[in-house]
Parts: sequence; structure tokens; C-alpha cells
Amino acid sequence: MPWKERLIVALDVPDAAQAINVVERLGDDVKIYKVGFELFVSSGPALLQQIHDRGKSIFLDLKFHDIPNTVSKAAVAATRHGVFMFNLHASGGYEMMVRCRDSVEEVCAKENLQKPKIIAVTVLTSFSNESLKSDLCVQHGMKAHVRHLAALTKKAGLDGVVASAQETAIIREHCGKGFLIVTPGIRPSWQPPDDQQRTATPQQAIRDGADYIVMGRAILKHEDPARAIEIISLEMLTA
Ligand code: C5P
Repeated sequence: MPWKERLIVALDVPDAAQAINVVERLGDDVKIYKVGFELFVSSGPALLQQIHDRGKSIFLDLKFHDIPNTVSKAAVAATRHGVFMFNLHASGGYEMMVRCRDSVEEVCAKENLQKPKIIAVTVLTSFSNESLKSDLCVQHGMKAHVRHLAALTKKAGLDGVVASAQETAIIREHCGKGFLIVTPGIRPSWQPPDDQQRTATPQQAIRDGADYIVMGRAILKHEDPARAIEIISLEMLTA
């Protein structure tokens, strides 16, 4: 896949006007945008349409986590918005993931819709080994937990996972080729880790087997976002 199809820019801005400003400013360099909580709650589905109207694909990052019935209905609604990808938490469990997949496949067949890629969050990149233990009481360690949730996601028939670059190689080895790995927490050399605990450079992430990398602040907060993308793309190419 060419690098432009592997870079997802997180539209972590507060409103639709700022989001569209970013999309128009970055032009052809970015094909896929991630719309998360802040923007979706402030601007709603109308913004998704505005982004689609500009020829871009959308990763709807709402990380669904609820009972199977509720999540599968939200998944159907996301599918009807024509998003390219959306996600849920693998820790919502096997049944939740299977019901979600089945509902999406059913509505796509009935209404002749394009099936979005459904991916599951394993462990948020803001968690460390220590906070996984102290906050969630998960004792077997980050790598084992991520591997377990990735395998569960695969068994449930979803398309892949969101995972930190530090676990990408393990997931690739455990779940094989064709299972998508989407990696946030990417930090080029000039960017501090902020609240991310498990970071990697774009080059490392691609080398370890990430299919897509998600980048927010390193691009949006750069004084010249187009230049930031250029440097990141060179790193991706050399990987
Ligand atoms: O600014 P930064 O590059 O850290 O942004 C990362 C984006 O990826 C944020 O929108 C964040 O919500 C999202 N994300 C994450 N970790 C996950 C899943 C999504 O950081 N496990």
C-alpha cells in the first residue's frame, strides 16, 4: 500500500469549522481522517458528510463498549454513514464483537452498503504496565493481555486491532498476515510523548508490521503540518 493510504490523521479539534480547515489545508497529502469523541460529539454526522464530500475516508473512533445489542445497533448506524473503518473495545467481549460483525454484514447485504473495517482496541496506548495492574487489576502483563485480546478479536471475525507500536510485532506473529493493525501513539523525533506511554516512530511502527499509523498532535500542532507530513512520509518510505 502507498504511504498515503497508510497514514490516518486524527482530527482532534473541537469543532467542524476547524476540522474542515485542516482537511482543506492538508489537501491531497491525507486520504484518511480519524474522527473521535470530541469532534463527533460537537459536530455529529453532518461533519462526516462534509469530510466525505471532500473525497476523504473516515475512521470513526468512538470505541464502542456496551452490551452486545447496543453496540451492534451503533455499528449499523456507523455503517450507514459510510465510514471506512470504526472501532470498539475488545474488552467488551467475544459476544459483543460477533453480534457487531453479524449486524454489520446483515445491513450491508440488505441495503447494498460497503462493509466498513471493524477493528478492536486492545489496551489504550495511554496505559502502562503499572497502570494496567493497579487500575484494572490485570496481572499477567501488557504483552500477554494485548495478545489475548487480539486473538479474541480474530476469533470473533473482526478485521483487526488498534494497538501500540510496541505490541505490533507480537500481534503480527500471533494473528498472522491479513489481520489489520492500526497503530496510534506514534511520535516522530520532534514530538514529546504527551499522555502516551507506549510510543514508537513512524518508521518503527511500519517495520514492525503496522498497516496504518494514526497521528494527531505531531501533525496538527506542528508549525507547518504539510512539512511534518513530508518528513513522516519519508520515514514511512524508508521503513
Ligand atoms: O496526538 P496523538 O498522535 O497522540 O493522537 C492519537 C490519537 O489516537 C488520539 O485521537 C487518540 O484518541 C487515539 N487513540 C490512541 N490510543 C488508542 C486508540 C486511539 O491514542 N489505543
